[in-house]
Amino acid sequence: MPHGLHIRLPKNFVLEERLERYAGAIEPNPYAWCGMWAWACAPVGAPAFREVRLDLGCGRGSFTVEMARREPDVLFIGMDAEPICIAYAAQAGCESGLPNVLFVPGTAMRIKEMFAPGELACIYLNFPTPFPRKKDSHKRLVNFERLMDYRVVLAPDGEVRLRTDSQPLFDFALTQVPIAGYELGWSSRDARAERPDEPTSEYEVKLGGRGARVCAYVATPGPAPVNPTQTAEVSLAAYIPQDLASFDGYAPHGMEATIQNLRNRAAKKNGDWADGITL
Ligand SMILES: C[S@@+](CC[C@H](N)C(=O)[O-])C[C@H]1O[C@@H](n2cnc3c(N)ncnc32)[C@H](O)[C@@H]1O
Repeated sequence: MPHGLHIRLPKNFVLEERLERYAGAIEPNPYAWCGMWAWACAPVGAPAFREVRLDLGCGRGSFTVEMARREPDVLFIGMDAEPICIAYAAQAGCESGLPNVLFVPGTAMRIKEMFAPGELACIYLNFPTPFPRKKDSHKRLVNFERLMDYRVVLAPDGEVRLRTDSQPLFDFALTQVPIAGYELGWSSRDARAERPDEPTSEYEVKLGGRGARVCAYVATPGPAPVNPTQTAEVSLAAYIPQDLASFDGYAPHGMEATIQNLRNRAAKKNGDWADGITL
């Protein structure tokens, strides 16, 4: 698991055994269903699902399962690159008994091989791994390159829905929206307050408990840009405000060390260290 919030595995956890036990909620070969998800996954005798939505980087899948419970005529697919997450998410899927949720192992980088053009109504990005450093920035799920891929698999009125605890990641993500030719339908820096009824994910619960506020956007593809290129600063350090006071209650997940370093540097510059103040 990336960046700090490691999954603590129970002593007797055997991944293969778990994946087998909860296989009923896992599709191990998502490539086989490209273009067919809505009807191939519908229960026998039932009509095709009205829509297909993807929870990308679903983690343990509680958001995916809750959405599926709320909208029974929509197929919810949770995808994660970590097999352990898929094992936990599939357990939640099986225990829910819902016929409209399933989980697939896989990476966002191959999304165009798993879904046909226009097949998805929505892609949820809940608390995507921030990858703050420039050298890892290509892995971010909010990059314009990823948005360019998403626009292929999204329906014309489809949506990307981002939620994150990280103001630097959010500000970076906002720069990527126009580069990839999307229009911002809604954005908020306190999404939980504005839309209290949305289901929470595991990360929202964990990070919310530490004082995180949720930044969120809903973006829809507009006309496709020709030769989009990166014009934004990619290191998330560039999006940290000068005044670190805004992080007093909470440092964004994955950037705790960077912010502490900046605090130390500022304190050193102000001579606080010479005065013996412990940071
Ligand atoms: C910070 S966790 C958030 C999990 C969940 N969405 C939540 O809000 O609780 C980010 C998840 O994204 C997954 N992830 C990161 N990069 C990915 C990629 N390229 N494709 C699919 N999943 C990815 C990680 O394995 C991890 O489970």
